[in-house]
Amino acid sequence: MSLQVIQTLSGLQQLVAEWRNQGLSIGLVPTMGNLHQGHLSLVEAAQAECDKVVVSIFVNPLQFGEGEDFDSYPRTYQQDEERLREISADCVFYPSIQEMYPNGQQGQTLVQVPSLLTGLLEGALRPGHFDGVTTVVMKLFNMVQPDVAVFGQKDFQQCAVIQKMVEDLCVPVNIRIAPIARDEDGLALSSRNQYLDASQRQIAPVLYQQLQWMSKELLSANQKVAEVCERASENLLNAGFSQVDYIQVCQVGSLLPVALIESEKLSCNYYVILVVARLGKTRLLDNLLL
Ligand code: PAJ
Repeated sequence: MSLQVIQTLSGLQQLVAEWRNQGLSIGLVPTMGNLHQGHLSLVEAAQAECDKVVVSIFVNPLQFGEGEDFDSYPRTYQQDEERLREISADCVFYPSIQEMYPNGQQGQTLVQVPSLLTGLLEGALRPGHFDGVTTVVMKLFNMVQPDVAVFGQKDFQQCAVIQKMVEDLCVPVNIRIAPIARDEDGLALSSRNQYLDASQRQIAPVLYQQLQWMSKELLSANQKVAEVCERASENLLNAGFSQVDYIQVCQVGSLLPVALIESEKLSCNYYVILVVARLGKTRLLDNLLL
Protein backbone atom coordinates (compact mmCIF):
# COMPACT_ATOMS: atom_id res chain seq x y z
CA MET A 1 0.00 0.00 0.00
CA SER A 2 1.27 3.47 -0.78
CA LEU A 3 1.58 6.34 1.69
CA GLN A 4 -1.78 7.83 2.63
CA VAL A 5 -1.65 11.59 3.08
CA ILE A 6 -4.34 12.80 5.46
CA GLN A 7 -5.01 16.32 6.66
CA THR A 8 -8.30 16.01 8.50
CA LEU A 9 -9.24 14.33 11.77
CA SER A 10 -12.25 12.65 10.16
CA GLY A 11 -10.06 11.17 7.40
CA LEU A 12 -7.60 9.91 9.98
CA GLN A 13 -10.32 8.35 12.14
CA GLN A 14 -11.80 6.59 9.12
CA LEU A 15 -8.46 5.07 8.13
CA VAL A 16 -7.66 4.01 11.68
CA ALA A 17 -11.12 2.41 12.03
CA GLU A 18 -10.55 0.41 8.83
CA TRP A 19 -7.24 -0.87 10.14
CA ARG A 20 -8.79 -1.75 13.49
CA ASN A 21 -11.59 -3.69 11.74
CA GLN A 22 -8.90 -5.72 10.01
CA GLY A 23 -7.30 -6.46 13.39
CA LEU A 24 -4.11 -4.55 12.55
CA SER A 25 -1.83 -3.00 15.18
CA ILE A 26 -0.93 0.69 14.85
CA GLY A 27 2.22 2.62 15.67
CA LEU A 28 2.47 6.42 15.95
CA VAL A 29 5.53 8.64 15.48
CA PRO A 30 4.77 12.30 16.34
CA THR A 31 7.07 14.83 14.65
CA MET A 32 7.28 18.46 13.60
CA GLY A 33 8.58 17.47 10.17
CA ASN A 34 11.83 18.38 8.40
CA LEU A 35 12.49 14.67 8.73
CA HIS A 36 16.04 13.39 9.10
CA GLN A 37 17.50 9.97 9.79
CA GLY A 38 16.70 10.34 13.52
CA HIS A 39 12.98 10.65 12.76
CA LEU A 40 13.16 7.83 10.22
CA SER A 41 14.78 5.53 12.77
CA LEU A 42 11.72 6.05 14.99
CA VAL A 43 9.45 5.10 12.09
CA GLU A 44 11.51 1.96 11.51
CA ALA A 45 11.28 1.08 15.21
CA ALA A 46 7.48 1.44 15.00
CA GLN A 47 7.37 -0.66 11.82
CA ALA A 48 9.30 -3.43 13.54
CA GLU A 49 6.48 -3.78 16.06
CA CYS A 50 3.29 -2.69 14.31
CA ASP A 51 1.34 -3.59 11.17
CA LYS A 52 0.67 0.06 10.28
CA VAL A 53 2.54 3.25 11.15
CA VAL A 54 1.18 6.80 11.24
CA VAL A 55 3.69 9.66 11.22
CA SER A 56 2.28 13.02 12.26
CA ILE A 57 3.84 16.24 11.02
CA PHE A 58 2.68 19.30 12.89
CA VAL A 59 4.74 22.33 13.89
CA ASN A 60 2.90 22.85 17.15
CA PRO A 61 2.50 26.55 17.98
CA LEU A 62 1.42 25.69 21.52
CA GLN A 63 4.91 24.50 22.48
CA PHE A 64 6.84 27.53 21.17
CA GLY A 65 7.34 30.52 23.45
CA GLU A 66 7.46 34.17 22.49
CA GLY A 67 10.64 35.01 20.60
CA GLU A 68 11.26 31.34 19.76
CA ASP A 69 11.59 29.98 16.24
CA PHE A 70 7.99 29.01 15.39
CA ASP A 71 7.92 31.16 12.24
CA SER A 72 11.36 30.17 11.00
CA TYR A 73 11.12 26.47 11.94
CA PRO A 74 12.02 24.54 8.75
CA ARG A 75 8.94 23.31 6.91
CA THR A 76 9.88 20.88 4.15
CA TYR A 77 6.68 18.97 3.62
CA GLN A 78 7.30 17.69 0.06
CA GLN A 79 10.70 16.30 0.96
CA ASP A 80 9.29 14.74 4.15
CA GLU A 81 6.56 13.01 2.18
CA GLU A 82 9.19 11.64 -0.21
CA ARG A 83 11.28 10.24 2.65
CA LEU A 84 8.24 8.58 4.20
CA ARG A 85 7.39 6.96 0.84
CA GLU A 86 10.95 5.64 0.58
CA ILE A 87 10.69 3.81 3.90
CA SER A 88 7.11 2.65 3.22
CA ALA A 89 5.36 4.46 6.06
CA ASP A 90 1.60 3.88 5.83
CA CYS A 91 0.15 7.27 6.66
CA VAL A 92 1.30 10.83 7.17
CA PHE A 93 -1.10 12.95 9.21
CA TYR A 94 -0.46 16.57 8.37
CA PRO A 95 -3.17 18.68 10.01
CA SER A 96 -3.57 22.44 9.82
CA ILE A 97 -3.46 24.54 12.99
CA GLN A 98 -7.23 25.02 12.61
CA GLU A 99 -7.75 21.24 12.44
CA MET A 100 -5.65 20.68 15.56
CA TYR A 101 -6.95 23.66 17.55
CA PRO A 102 -10.47 24.38 16.23
CA ASN A 103 -11.20 26.55 19.28
CA GLY A 104 -7.95 28.44 18.99
CA GLN A 105 -4.93 27.98 21.22
CA GLN A 106 -6.56 29.99 24.00
CA GLY A 107 -9.64 27.78 23.83
CA GLN A 108 -7.70 24.52 24.02
CA THR A 109 -7.90 22.36 27.17
CA LEU A 110 -4.35 21.76 28.34
CA VAL A 111 -2.70 18.61 29.64
CA GLN A 112 -0.22 19.58 32.34
CA VAL A 113 2.36 17.33 33.94
CA PRO A 114 3.41 18.58 37.42
CA SER A 115 6.12 21.23 37.52
CA LEU A 116 8.33 18.94 39.60
CA LEU A 117 9.21 17.41 36.23
CA THR A 118 8.27 20.14 33.74
CA GLY A 119 9.70 23.07 35.71
CA LEU A 120 13.29 21.83 35.49
CA LEU A 121 15.93 22.12 32.76
CA GLU A 122 14.15 22.79 29.42
CA GLY A 123 10.95 23.61 31.28
CA ALA A 124 12.68 26.22 33.44
CA LEU A 125 14.07 27.97 30.36
CA ARG A 126 10.98 27.53 28.20
CA PRO A 127 7.94 28.14 30.44
CA GLY A 128 4.82 26.42 29.12
CA HIS A 129 6.78 24.41 26.56
CA PHE A 130 5.93 21.00 27.98
CA ASP A 131 2.24 21.88 28.42
CA GLY A 132 2.21 22.46 24.66
CA VAL A 133 3.98 19.15 24.06
CA THR A 134 1.79 17.03 26.33
CA THR A 135 -1.39 18.64 25.04
CA VAL A 136 -0.62 17.94 21.38
CA VAL A 137 0.76 14.45 22.09
CA MET A 138 -2.33 13.54 24.13
CA LYS A 139 -4.55 14.77 21.30
CA LEU A 140 -2.55 12.69 18.81
CA PHE A 141 -2.86 9.64 21.08
CA ASN A 142 -6.63 10.10 21.20
CA MET A 143 -6.88 10.69 17.47
CA VAL A 144 -4.83 7.66 16.43
CA GLN A 145 -5.28 5.40 19.48
CA PRO A 146 -1.98 3.68 18.70
CA ASP A 147 -0.75 0.48 20.33
CA VAL A 148 2.77 1.86 20.35
CA ALA A 149 4.19 5.40 20.14
CA VAL A 150 7.89 6.01 19.55
CA PHE A 151 9.89 8.99 20.83
CA GLY A 152 13.60 9.80 20.64
CA GLN A 153 16.03 9.80 23.57
CA LYS A 154 17.43 12.96 21.98
CA ASP A 155 14.70 14.89 23.84
CA PHE A 156 15.28 13.15 27.14
CA GLN A 157 13.09 15.33 29.33
CA GLN A 158 10.28 15.18 26.76
CA CYS A 159 10.36 11.38 27.03
CA ALA A 160 10.20 11.54 30.83
CA VAL A 161 7.30 14.02 30.72
CA ILE A 162 5.32 11.93 28.22
CA GLN A 163 5.93 8.73 30.19
CA LYS A 164 4.67 10.46 33.33
CA MET A 165 1.55 11.71 31.50
CA VAL A 166 0.80 8.22 30.14
CA GLU A 167 1.24 6.68 33.57
CA ASP A 168 -0.77 9.30 35.48
CA LEU A 169 -3.64 9.38 32.98
CA CYS A 170 -3.63 5.60 32.35
CA VAL A 171 -3.30 6.18 28.60
CA PRO A 172 -3.49 2.79 26.86
CA VAL A 173 -0.34 3.12 24.76
CA ASN A 174 3.11 1.53 24.94
CA ILE A 175 5.85 4.13 24.82
CA ARG A 176 9.14 3.21 23.18
CA ILE A 177 12.30 5.31 23.37
CA ALA A 178 14.69 5.08 20.41
CA PRO A 179 18.43 5.87 20.69
CA ILE A 180 19.92 9.14 19.45
CA ALA A 181 20.84 9.15 15.76
CA ARG A 182 24.10 11.04 15.18
CA ASP A 183 26.12 12.36 12.28
CA GLU A 184 29.46 10.66 11.66
CA ASP A 185 31.25 13.27 13.77
CA GLY A 186 28.91 12.63 16.71
CA LEU A 187 26.59 15.61 16.41
CA ALA A 188 23.05 14.54 17.31
CA LEU A 189 20.80 14.99 14.26
CA SER A 190 18.34 17.83 14.69
CA SER A 191 16.18 19.99 12.46
CA ARG A 192 17.79 23.00 14.14
CA ASN A 193 21.32 21.98 12.98
CA GLN A 194 20.62 23.71 9.70
CA TYR A 195 20.62 27.07 11.50
CA LEU A 196 24.40 26.55 12.00
CA ASP A 197 26.83 28.23 9.60
CA ALA A 198 29.89 26.31 8.33
CA SER A 199 32.23 27.30 11.15
CA GLN A 200 29.60 26.65 13.85
CA ARG A 201 28.93 23.25 12.29
CA GLN A 202 32.62 22.41 12.74
CA ILE A 203 32.49 23.30 16.43
CA ALA A 204 29.18 21.53 17.10
CA PRO A 205 30.56 17.96 17.63
CA VAL A 206 32.49 19.22 20.68
CA LEU A 207 29.18 18.96 22.55
CA TYR A 208 29.09 15.16 22.25
CA GLN A 209 32.85 14.93 22.80
CA GLN A 210 32.41 16.74 26.12
CA LEU A 211 29.59 14.37 27.13
CA GLN A 212 31.88 11.42 26.43
CA TRP A 213 34.72 13.07 28.35
CA MET A 214 32.41 13.74 31.31
CA SER A 215 31.17 10.18 31.31
CA LYS A 216 34.74 8.88 31.46
CA GLU A 217 35.64 11.28 34.26
CA LEU A 218 32.52 10.51 36.27
CA LEU A 219 33.03 6.77 35.97
CA SER A 220 36.54 7.01 37.37
CA ALA A 221 36.56 7.14 41.15
CA ASN A 222 36.20 10.19 43.42
CA GLN A 223 35.14 12.72 40.86
CA LYS A 224 33.01 15.59 42.07
CA VAL A 225 30.04 16.04 39.76
CA ALA A 226 29.97 19.83 40.05
CA GLU A 227 33.65 20.13 39.14
CA VAL A 228 33.32 17.91 36.08
CA CYS A 229 30.28 19.90 34.89
CA GLU A 230 32.15 23.13 35.46
CA ARG A 231 35.15 21.96 33.46
CA ALA A 232 33.01 20.70 30.57
CA SER A 233 31.18 24.00 30.52
CA GLU A 234 34.48 25.90 30.30
CA ASN A 235 35.64 23.57 27.53
CA LEU A 236 32.49 24.30 25.52
CA LEU A 237 32.93 28.06 25.88
CA ASN A 238 36.61 27.77 24.96
CA ALA A 239 35.68 25.77 21.86
CA GLY A 240 33.44 28.61 20.66
CA PHE A 241 30.01 27.91 22.16
CA SER A 242 28.37 31.22 23.05
CA GLN A 243 26.45 30.03 26.11
CA VAL A 244 25.82 26.90 28.17
CA ASP A 245 22.14 26.88 29.18
CA TYR A 246 22.66 23.90 31.47
CA ILE A 247 24.92 20.94 31.96
CA GLN A 248 23.76 18.62 34.70
CA VAL A 249 24.00 15.07 35.90
CA CYS A 250 20.48 13.94 36.78
CA GLN A 251 18.66 10.94 38.11
CA VAL A 252 16.97 9.28 35.15
CA GLY A 253 13.40 9.03 36.51
CA SER A 254 12.99 12.29 38.42
CA LEU A 255 15.56 14.36 36.47
CA LEU A 256 16.65 15.81 39.81
CA PRO A 257 20.31 16.88 39.79
CA VAL A 258 22.76 14.67 41.63
CA ALA A 259 25.88 15.86 43.40
CA LEU A 260 27.52 12.48 43.95
CA ILE A 261 27.74 9.37 41.80
CA GLU A 262 27.06 6.18 43.75
CA SER A 263 29.00 3.46 41.96
CA GLU A 264 26.52 0.68 42.78
CA LYS A 265 23.86 2.55 40.79
CA LEU A 266 25.98 2.87 37.68
CA SER A 267 25.04 -0.46 36.14
CA CYS A 268 21.33 0.30 35.74
CA ASN A 269 21.05 3.50 33.68
CA TYR A 270 20.42 5.48 36.84
CA TYR A 271 22.20 8.66 35.77
CA VAL A 272 22.05 10.82 32.68
CA ILE A 273 24.07 13.88 31.68
CA LEU A 274 21.83 16.51 30.09
CA VAL A 275 23.27 19.46 28.23
CA VAL A 276 22.03 22.41 26.21
CA ALA A 277 24.55 24.83 24.77
CA ARG A 278 24.28 27.55 22.17
CA LEU A 279 26.29 28.20 19.06
CA GLY A 280 25.35 31.73 18.18
CA LYS A 281 21.60 31.70 18.73
CA THR A 282 21.13 28.01 17.97
CA ARG A 283 20.39 25.80 20.96
CA LEU A 284 21.88 22.32 20.70
CA LEU A 285 20.51 19.59 22.99
CA ASP A 286 22.26 16.36 23.79
CA ASN A 287 22.47 13.77 26.53
CA LEU A 288 24.31 10.63 27.55
CA LEU A 289 23.30 7.83 29.91
CA LEU A 290 26.03 6.87 32.36
P1 PAJ B 1 10.64 16.79 16.64
O1 PAJ B 1 11.68 17.68 17.18
O2 PAJ B 1 10.28 16.84 15.19
O3 PAJ B 1 11.03 15.31 17.00
C1 PAJ B 1 10.17 14.24 16.71
C2 PAJ B 1 10.71 13.00 17.39
O4 PAJ B 1 11.99 12.67 16.82
C3 PAJ B 1 10.95 13.20 18.89
O5 PAJ B 1 10.55 12.04 19.60
C4 PAJ B 1 12.45 13.42 18.97
O6 PAJ B 1 13.01 13.06 20.21
C5 PAJ B 1 12.93 12.50 17.86
N1 PAJ B 1 14.29 12.85 17.40
C6 PAJ B 1 14.75 14.08 17.03
N2 PAJ B 1 16.07 14.03 16.73
C7 PAJ B 1 16.44 12.74 16.92
C8 PAJ B 1 17.69 12.03 16.80
N3 PAJ B 1 18.81 12.64 16.42
N4 PAJ B 1 17.70 10.71 17.09
C9 PAJ B 1 16.57 10.06 17.48
N5 PAJ B 1 15.36 10.67 17.62
C10 PAJ B 1 15.30 11.99 17.35
O7 PAJ B 1 9.90 16.41 19.50
C11 PAJ B 1 9.10 16.94 18.78
O8 PAJ B 1 9.24 17.04 17.42
C12 PAJ B 1 7.79 17.53 19.31
O9 PAJ B 1 8.00 18.04 20.60
C13 PAJ B 1 6.61 16.52 19.30
C14 PAJ B 1 6.88 15.32 20.20
C15 PAJ B 1 6.32 16.04 17.87
C16 PAJ B 1 5.33 17.23 19.83
O10 PAJ B 1 5.03 18.33 19.05
